[in-house]
Amino acid sequence: MSHSIICVMKYGYFDDQKREYVITDPNTPYPWINYLGNEDFFSLISNTAGGYAFYKDAKYRRITRFRYNNVPIDNGGRYFYIKDGDTIWSPGWKPVKTTLDSYECRHGMSYTRISGKKNGLSAEILYFVPLGIWGEVQKVTLRNLDNRTRKFKLFSFIEWCLWNAEDDMTNFQRNFSTGEVEVEGSVIYHKTEYKERRNHYAFYSVNADIAGFETDRDTFLGLYNGFDRPAAIEKGVLQNNIAHGWSPVASHYLEIELAPGGSKDLIFLLGYVENEEDEKWASNGVINKQKASAMITSFNTSDKVTSAFDDLSAYWDELLAKYEVDSGDARLDRLVNIWNQYQCMITFNFSRSASYFESGIGRGMGFRDSNQDLIGFVHQVPERARERILDIAATQFEDGGAYHQYQPLTKKGNNAIGGNFNDDPLWLILSTSAYIKETGDYSILEEQVPFDNDETVAQSHFEHLRRSFYHVVNNLGPHGLPLIGRADWNDCLNLNCFSKDPNESFQTTENKSGGVAESIMIAGMFVLYGEEFVHLCHKTGKDREAEEARKHIIAMRTAIDKHGWDGKWFLRAYDFFGNKVGSEENEEGKIFIESQGFCTMAGIGLEDGRAVTALDSVKERLDCQYGIVLNNPAFTRYVIEYGEISTYPAGYKENAGIFCHNNPWIMIGETLIGRGDLAFDYYRKIAPSYLEEISDLHKTEPYVYAQMIAGKDAFRPGEAKNSWLTGTAAWNYYAITQYILGIRPDYDGLIIDPCIPREWVGFKVNRLFRGAMYHIVVKNPDHVSKGVSMIKVNGSVIEGNVIPIYEKGSINTVEVIMG
Ligand code: BGC
Ligand code: NOJ
Repeated sequence: MSHSIICVMKYGYFDDQKREYVITDPNTPYPWINYLGNEDFFSLISNTAGGYAFYKDAKYRRITRFRYNNVPIDNGGRYFYIKDGDTIWSPGWKPVKTTLDSYECRHGMSYTRISGKKNGLSAEILYFVPLGIWGEVQKVTLRNLDNRTRKFKLFSFIEWCLWNAEDDMTNFQRNFSTGEVEVEGSVIYHKTEYKERRNHYAFYSVNADIAGFETDRDTFLGLYNGFDRPAAIEKGVLQNNIAHGWSPVASHYLEIELAPGGSKDLIFLLGYVENEEDEKWASNGVINKQKASAMITSFNTSDKVTSAFDDLSAYWDELLAKYEVDSGDARLDRLVNIWNQYQCMITFNFSRSASYFESGIGRGMGFRDSNQDLIGFVHQVPERARERILDIAATQFEDGGAYHQYQPLTKKGNNAIGGNFNDDPLWLILSTSAYIKETGDYSILEEQVPFDNDETVAQSHFEHLRRSFYHVVNNLGPHGLPLIGRADWNDCLNLNCFSKDPNESFQTTENKSGGVAESIMIAGMFVLYGEEFVHLCHKTGKDREAEEARKHIIAMRTAIDKHGWDGKWFLRAYDFFGNKVGSEENEEGKIFIESQGFCTMAGIGLEDGRAVTALDSVKERLDCQYGIVLNNPAFTRYVIEYGEISTYPAGYKENAGIFCHNNPWIMIGETLIGRGDLAFDYYRKIAPSYLEEISDLHKTEPYVYAQMIAGKDAFRPGEAKNSWLTGTAAWNYYAITQYILGIRPDYDGLIIDPCIPREWVGFKVNRLFRGAMYHIVVKNPDHVSKGVSMIKVNGSVIEGNVIPIYEKGSINTVEVIMG
């Protein structure tokens, strides 16, 4: 095992004022990316302008092409080339990689600004997707920093994807013959398959006359060249070819002349258009360009672009003003106030579909994933959360079970990554209760929602939650604990799988009929979210229903007490043979994090000390320098009755990796027993803004969470993978804001219940809750971790620690004394 020496190396810095991360060295340890777009049109963009764009669905409507797992890394993007005499360079360093005199990439809230300087010229590109627009604006500002007039050439470049990203990567025998484009003026249109079954095309425009264009990739690059050395740019002219098949691209060629100190703005627009069937054509074979022209016109001046950009900034100002902390620790504040909330919006939008680790073709919107993402998002745009909850519920089956995912474009569930995960249904109760706590909107429970998207069997959303609850009750195993099914939250604990065939997926193989393997994690979840269900029953006048449900919860608690405790921690599961998983009796995998998290969050063992004992065991066995590992000891052999978990090398992913998604479960557990020092210590260990100095080891972006950090048993502990699209974002946001800082929305008010490190003297939070603003000042004169001795609202002391709901639009001051 190598415990590598940690280099102190940063590649940039946080500019909190502007809410940006500023990268000053393009040679980052991994591409550090950002997302553009908030509604329908989206782009991924790296610090060197790599990435791609798509409309709604990264699989079915991929607009530009990207090459995953290619060499060099991050291949494909929206590139600009400058040919200045014999020197060719790109403002984002890649793809040409000419050494720049200076380089900077500023990733901000839904925009990225990349700038480079070379030999007295500077080029800055602002990339963003304006609100409500199906297109990406690229505003290029060229400057002559020299004292002589400069003439040079600018080339743009993007490569079209033939829409279906999966087919595009595999079906070459067809696709090399289908590509079609049109060019009119300075606009290049991509219209492959438009004449038959598609009603959409894309375009790439610039608001200036061009000296030429190219649409055929092989001519542009030269067959044996990469993006770094396009043959056409070396020659310095484009040949105005119209692509027929092969790989259509879009490149504009502009000749620029700048006086000393002069500058020029150019606005490029990468857009997407849909037309009605009877409005597809302008004339025979010529596409109707009306909508494209309208979009181009609305961004054809710098002023229009600036105004759209200001709207985007205002949109983020408003979103981020809903929860703001001032803790005195800049690393905490920037994560809570800016980046963690931003990442929550991104996971809300993308679930697990498209990142630099998710190819956009394998996974759509996850049932469990998207439900969990909502707990970090619901305060931002509650209306969108509501819509999402109902979309997810509409994919549920009548028996309460669920498709594991659905495609964003069709909103229909599918089995592509398996089904029958028995934790899935319960997450719907979590998201719905989080929504109601945030908004007080019980009407969501009355919405009529289909099962399996079949309107004829629609029932109220409340009924969906009921089916979720009873899906557990109806699927209990021999110990009265929930059957695990395909797997629970841990997709890799495949207790009914027994796979010997390397050609089958652990996610979809279930070759033993279940009926025995049980999950103590689901048991804990059932107690925790079952209580929310009971609450909702009471709130809607269904007391009998509540009483009935409570009986099942009590029975579950009893089953956990009897069969779920191992002596020093909670067991994880019972396997196919009824043997214990996650017990001192096991040789490997003696203890797992998930059941410690869920049982303690559910309050199990709070009265008799088992919660403390379990959390002590976590500290002793699972904690390490970089976070809390998932299980210990790591598996070193393939255990056929456990499945995928034991396939990973020790210390990675679900086999004793630090799965950052579940660390907050322990943080929350710690806050329930009042150990604020430990809770925050766990928080800090995996929080990206605290890891900036070890970027060489950590590798992924210091402004967003990664799904996994290699654990203590790994070859290189501390190295992260799979950044951005992970439930880690929502759960850590939930843990820090609601349980550590302790400002927690509840059905009838705002709970104030901080659990912080003792040395803190206090902190301030501004929280917009149900339309009223609360300026909360927490003071900790006695240096306690938990406990509130006094709360004053607008100068008057209140009873207890729940701030009642004040009038919409009111501004309220809240003074809290801990002790
Ligand atoms: C990964 C899991 C993931 C699952 C579903 C597995 O290979 O280890 O983290 O949830 O695939 O796609
Ligand atoms: C990632 C998946 O997206 C999520 O659904 C799952 O719970 C975790 N991996 C753990 O396996």
